[in-house]
Amino acid sequence: MISELVPPDTVVVIFGANGDLAKRKLLPAIYHLHREGWMPRSWRVIGVARSEVADADFRREARAAIEDSGHGGVNDEDDWASFAERLSFTSTDFGPGNTGDLVEAVRRAEEAVGGRPRRLHYLSTPPTTFAPLTQGLGEAGLVERARVVYEKPFGLDLEGFHELDEVVRSVVREEDVYRIDHFLGKESVQNILALRFANRMFEAMWNRNHIDHVQIDVPEELGIGTRAGFYEKTGALRDMIVTHLFQVLAMVAMEPPYDLSAEAQFAEKVKVFESMRELRREDVVLGQYDGYRDAEGVAADSQTDTFAAIRVHIDNWRWDGVPFFLRTGKRMAQKRQTVTLAFRRPPTAMWREIAAEGLPPSYLTMELAGNQGATLSFLAKEPGPTIWLGRAQMRFTYAESFGSELIEAYERLLHDALIGDRTLFTRADGIGRTWEVVAQALDNPPPVQPYTQGTWGPQAADELIAPRGWYLPERDED
Ligand code: BG6
Repeated sequence: MISELVPPDTVVVIFGANGDLAKRKLLPAIYHLHREGWMPRSWRVIGVARSEVADADFRREARAAIEDSGHGGVNDEDDWASFAERLSFTSTDFGPGNTGDLVEAVRRAEEAVGGRPRRLHYLSTPPTTFAPLTQGLGEAGLVERARVVYEKPFGLDLEGFHELDEVVRSVVREEDVYRIDHFLGKESVQNILALRFANRMFEAMWNRNHIDHVQIDVPEELGIGTRAGFYEKTGALRDMIVTHLFQVLAMVAMEPPYDLSAEAQFAEKVKVFESMRELRREDVVLGQYDGYRDAEGVAADSQTDTFAAIRVHIDNWRWDGVPFFLRTGKRMAQKRQTVTLAFRRPPTAMWREIAAEGLPPSYLTMELAGNQGATLSFLAKEPGPTIWLGRAQMRFTYAESFGSELIEAYERLLHDALIGDRTLFTRADGIGRTWEVVAQALDNPPPVQPYTQGTWGPQAADELIAPRGWYLPERDED
C-alpha cells in the first residue's frame, strides 16, 4: 500500500512559475512533500515563464515563498539544499512554434532524473493561455508519459469552455487530464462525505423533509494583491462561485456514490450539476469594494465583481424547494469558509407561549478553513423551574478530536496527480454544465454594487437571502 503512495520518478514543469499561485501554494507544497518523503525517489522541477529569471534567483524566490507560507518554513539546510538543486528555470514564451527551449530543458532534467521518467505539466497560468500551452505541449511531443494539471477556472464562459475542451481533448488523453479545484483537496470538504455517508443520523436528515435551506459562505479579508491581470478578467462569480463553491455544493447535494472511486463520485456530482436550475439575473448579486479601482492594473471604470452572492435551486427529488445560497467576496469583514444546513422549524403549537412567531431553526455548520470541524446549533431547555428554551451548541474540531496537522489541499492534490489518482479532480462534462448554469447571468449580469471594505458586502445580498439571514455559529450569542 505504502509503495503505491510513492510516486514514480517525474519531471514537473510549472508554467507561470513566478506567479502568485506558484509562490504561495505550489512551491511550498512541493517542498513539504519532499520533506515528508512523498516526492518520487528521483525528480526535478522546471519553472517556466516569459520573464528572465536565473536558476539561482528562482531558488531564492522559492525559499522566500516557503518561509512565508506559514507551514514551518525551512528548518534544515541539508533538506533545503537537496530540494533547491532540483529546481531550475526556463525563460521562454512557450506555445505553438516556440517549444525548443522547454524541450531542451526537459531533456536535461530527464537525463538528471535517469531512465524514462513521467512528466507532470502544471498550468498555473490564466485560463486564456491553456489552449496555446496545450497545443505547444502536443506539438513538442511533451504530452507523452505526461499528466497535465489545469488550474481553475477551466474556461471563462460556456463558449470558452467548449473551445478549450476541444483543444485539450485533441491533445491529451482524458485519463491524463487533471482539472484542479483545490477546495476538493481540503480535509473538511472530504469530511462532508464522511459526515453524510458514515453516519446515519446526519444522512437521515439531509433532504427536503428536514432542511429549509443551505448556505455556502466564503468571505475573504484579502484583496486582489498583485493579481489584477487575472482578476479583472475573472471576478468573484467566475473565480470562486462557478468553481470552488459549486464543487462544495456538489459534495453537499450529491447522492451516495456506489463506492469511493473517482468515476463513482464524478457521476454523482455531475448529476447534481445537471439538476441545478439555470441562474437568472435576479438570483445574483454582484459587488465591488470601494477602492478596488485604485489597485494597479485595474481599469478606472472596471465593472469586475469582487463580491458575488447567488441563490440556486437543485431540481431533484432530494432538494426540491430547498434554496442554496452561496456568497463570497474580497475585503469582507472576515475570512471564513462555511457550509450551513438550516433545519426546518418544528411544529409550534406546544411552544406558542415561548415563541409566538415560531422557534428559530437549528443549524449544522461545517468549517472548511481555520479551526476546521463542525458545529451543531440547537435549542435546549434552560435550567430553572419553567420550560424556557436557549441556544446550545455541540462542536467538533479536527484539532481536538485528532490533534494532527491537516494536510494542505495543494499538497494532497499534487501528490494525487503524481501518483495518478484523479478522484479529487473534476470531469469535463460537469464543468461544462456549471458554465451552462451561469451562462444567462454572465450574459445579462445585474449591476455591480459598491460596498465598503471590511463589511459583509452589498445590502442586496441580505435581501437575496431574506427572510432568512446569513448565519455563523457565533451569531447564536447575539
Ligand atoms: C483561489 C482564488 O482559487 O482560491 C482566490 O483564485 C482565492 O481568489 C483562493 O483567494 C481561496 O483559497 P484558500 O482556500 O487558499 O483560501
